[in-house]
Amino acid sequence: MLVLKKMAADAISSAIAAKYGDVTVPSADEIATMLEYPPDTTMGDLAFPCFRLSRALRKSPPMIAADIASVFNCSAISDATAVNGYLNLRISNEYYEKELIPRNLSEGADYGKSDIGKGKTVVLDYSAPNICKPFHIGHLASTVIGHSLKKIHEFCGYNCVGVNHLGDWGTQFGKQIAAYKLWGEKEKIDREGVDGLVELYVRINNEIDGDEKNGIPPKKELADMARAESHKLEEGDPENLALWRWFVDVSLEECNRTYRQLGIEFDSSVGESFYTDKMPEQVELLKEKNLLKVDNGASIVDLSEYGMPPCLILRSDGSTLYPTRDIAAAVYRQRTYSFDKCIYVTASAQCLHFAQWFKVVELMGYDFYDKLVHVPYGMVSIDGAKLATRTGNVILIRDLISAAVDKVRAVMDEKNPDLENKDATAEAVGVGAIVFHYLLNSRIKDINFIMDDALSFDGSTGPYAQYTYARTCSILAKSPYSPCDISVGCEAESRLCSELSRFGEVVLNAMRDYEPSDITRYILDVCTAFNRFYHDCPIISATDENVRASRLAMTQATKYVLGSALPLICLKTPEKI
Ligand code: ARG
Repeated sequence: MLVLKKMAADAISSAIAAKYGDVTVPSADEIATMLEYPPDTTMGDLAFPCFRLSRALRKSPPMIAADIASVFNCSAISDATAVNGYLNLRISNEYYEKELIPRNLSEGADYGKSDIGKGKTVVLDYSAPNICKPFHIGHLASTVIGHSLKKIHEFCGYNCVGVNHLGDWGTQFGKQIAAYKLWGEKEKIDREGVDGLVELYVRINNEIDGDEKNGIPPKKELADMARAESHKLEEGDPENLALWRWFVDVSLEECNRTYRQLGIEFDSSVGESFYTDKMPEQVELLKEKNLLKVDNGASIVDLSEYGMPPCLILRSDGSTLYPTRDIAAAVYRQRTYSFDKCIYVTASAQCLHFAQWFKVVELMGYDFYDKLVHVPYGMVSIDGAKLATRTGNVILIRDLISAAVDKVRAVMDEKNPDLENKDATAEAVGVGAIVFHYLLNSRIKDINFIMDDALSFDGSTGPYAQYTYARTCSILAKSPYSPCDISVGCEAESRLCSELSRFGEVVLNAMRDYEPSDITRYILDVCTAFNRFYHDCPIISATDENVRASRLAMTQATKYVLGSALPLICLKTPEKI
């Protein structure tokens, strides 16, 4: 569509010059960015709002629209009509026949790609679950949004590095070690995996806090013990280090299973602990630059001048904190990857954390500070209640995925019992349903997780999108497309072409706004247009040989677009469902 917008904008520019002579109005490039998609497609495929020209041309928008329409001439546009101050444009079928579909078919899987990221590197920090905690639906958002952004950047030519910044360091490990030493059993953890660790973690937290309402006092001695274990760990005590390493491995097993099901691989999985020996250099630099202040024993960077609370760098016992590790990690990544952008995907609850340490990096004099991007997403809750490991208000990702896969398998047993590869397909569709559900709404919107909605297969869902893709595959398996002259005759055909023409632009916008949901919604638009085309226009059964060949070509073009678009939002593309 960008090619087309450019053609239309040039024609609008020429029409203005023809009508008004030499006036100062937006350039053709600016006009291209002003072109809109009318909400109602019966009005046109593109619309140009004439309001912005009103002052320069000293005329009312409807008059300007009428003037431009009267001399407008562009080979790609079949109709230009003035409606209420807008110039509505209809793309010509000829453009689809001669330009769009042939280009799509010759580019194939590359159709829609761009090379604006060529030679540039983007580091994406996402998923990053906390070790020893359950991998639950809260982390799924970071995981799928981050991975989708990685795919989108790759599609735009960037060299991408996906990093899983595991939460594998911090005082909570002191609690975990203390709890294990007090009540843990090796066999139980070996048997139960991370669940056994979570049980210990919940227990020690509950005992440390006590339960005032029920007259159970807090146990201060446990808190002290946890702190001592944490200190020993930071000092490199071999026993505690070995326990910690084991906890990390046990926790990762569960995460890795989920990553496999989601088809996610990281390029680097070094967690917070990796930066232990890289923090002193940064702390030194902070001191050198006179940025560190001691406040109640703790070392902080005062950010009051920037309207933010102080950024905590060291606790009073000298132990490091989350921001300290993030600063060291950013410097390490810049040195290792020389990134052009480093993107962090987390819940919006961490907005302040990122704003603070981004500022600290700037104050430290690192020139890459403006290449750091925080991409927040809304709160995830269950039926309106906050997620909390300690009260058990969580849904584990593995339980969610198995519920979805079971449901898909039941539908398949009924509708398509002989399907080959049933298990793999059921998993692809079940996981797809969940991922699609997460990526359907704009990322910043809160997600109130309702199991039945996530597992719904009707309407705007992952299974619907995957099924539509499989439909294009089965048509082409029966009757492969072969090169032919394209003819776009009926309305459903031109609508489909219009949707297909938008793909590259949608991907660029999704990248610019860090918004995978742009692609999810686009996929739905393509599916709706394709299914309408499928119902309105006989494909294999078309009597005219040319019409049939041309419709197969459009089916192939749709297959290319969906085949590229679904993986951009982490969906697999089974050919048969
Ligand atoms: N482990 C953190 C959490 O679960 C997320 C880490 C995000 N990445 C980062 N570099 N801070 O809240």
